[in-house]
Amino acid sequence: MTHSAPLPTHRFPADFIWGVATAAFQVEGAGAEDGKGPSIWDTFCAQPGTIADGSNGLVACDHYHRLDADLDLIASLGVNAYRFSVSWPRVQPLGQGAWNPHGLDFYERLVDGLLARGLQPHLTLNHWDLPQALQDQGGWRNRETVQRFVDYAQGINARLGDRLASTATHNEPWVVATLGHETGIFAPGIQSRRAATAVAHHLLLSHGLALQALRAQGGGGKLGIVLNQSPVQPATDSAEDAAAARLEDGKLVRWYMDPLFHGRYPDDVLATLGDDAPPVQPGDMQAIAQPLDWLGLNYYSRAVVSASGAWDVKQSGLPLTDMGWEVYPQGLTELLVRLKRDYDVPPLVIAENGGAFPDTTWHDGEVADDDRCSYLSSHISAVGAAIAAGVPMAGYMVWSLMDNFEWASGYAKRFGIVHVDYTTLARTPKRSARWYRAFLDTQRQHA
Ligand code: NOJ
Repeated sequence: MTHSAPLPTHRFPADFIWGVATAAFQVEGAGAEDGKGPSIWDTFCAQPGTIADGSNGLVACDHYHRLDADLDLIASLGVNAYRFSVSWPRVQPLGQGAWNPHGLDFYERLVDGLLARGLQPHLTLNHWDLPQALQDQGGWRNRETVQRFVDYAQGINARLGDRLASTATHNEPWVVATLGHETGIFAPGIQSRRAATAVAHHLLLSHGLALQALRAQGGGGKLGIVLNQSPVQPATDSAEDAAAARLEDGKLVRWYMDPLFHGRYPDDVLATLGDDAPPVQPGDMQAIAQPLDWLGLNYYSRAVVSASGAWDVKQSGLPLTDMGWEVYPQGLTELLVRLKRDYDVPPLVIAENGGAFPDTTWHDGEVADDDRCSYLSSHISAVGAAIAAGVPMAGYMVWSLMDNFEWASGYAKRFGIVHVDYTTLARTPKRSARWYRAFLDTQRQHA
């Protein structure tokens, strides 16, 4: 088989985690079935003008009804791991109190089905689909939600924790806080900086308290959290752009890394917040700074910042994905080396990496997504370079197993290495799926 993209030659450790990732709301569908309660994303999608193509998650990829076939599909990719999330309102429709047996059964079948196929289950507790019933009481802005999350984490752990390779508390808290509560382009669509800082704090606090509770309970596999991170670079070498980039690094990277690893928020960002500073109570910062068994990082591109806001992503001349994000693999190595330098990091897992591409070229019955093959190739090599530089890398997961609901972009942006036909819901592996498998085969030969 010929590939346009080279197979990375770095020899990764034999026990390296190689996976594909999804999230409940983006793939499951069955949005109002078998006792599932509504989530904030169900509510958000129902509001006109929120989702580019006016779509929603009610059917999505229908993964809920196609579980066994999808598990076979994952196994066919040659990976050893699958990252998925639990829909909180599917298992606990009101976000507190009664549990939904149908929802719990689904995740039980998912976990057991992975294990039966020799695949490690990597579970994320919160990939954004908060029960609407909790949002009605203030959602993540309300400190009470912290305890609701800890209870939910313990309930899931009691049921599934003995069979998991890892548990992540939250996926990309920056997105929930900033896009959900400051710009408002994601659910729940709030526009308030004060809300955003409270949400970020409550997410971090609930992470720390959940980790303590899970450790006391036992199980869950390795415990961690998943952050979206990028190197933040100034657009020019002017002092103004350098300062702007430093502050943005504070908001994106240090706002999460400093509390988790140093038990404090970064002073330079705090100084800009005035009355919008997070509602920290005594003991909170110690609770947040729990030791992590692993840290997940989602990497897609770099961030470039100019003080005037005049940076245009097209001016670098780098290739752009269908999301309009620069293809910038060296930024992944840069990020990983920097995090290792500045923090006492545990084993790091790239919990998501991948690209949306138009996927319009078919050849021999498959999408000929050479652009995605190159993207994966260069980014896996960037992980290899980080290992060579001494960064403790433990795994890499492609976003995504299959095309799915890309939040405010709807179904138009395709991230899958498996194509989904949204009329028939047929799954067809793309060239990138064969490419990934071929690469993983070379790693197995080395092992
Ligand atoms: C990160 C999010 O975790 C995931 O849900 C999303 O689809 C990808 N980024 C691509 O935007």
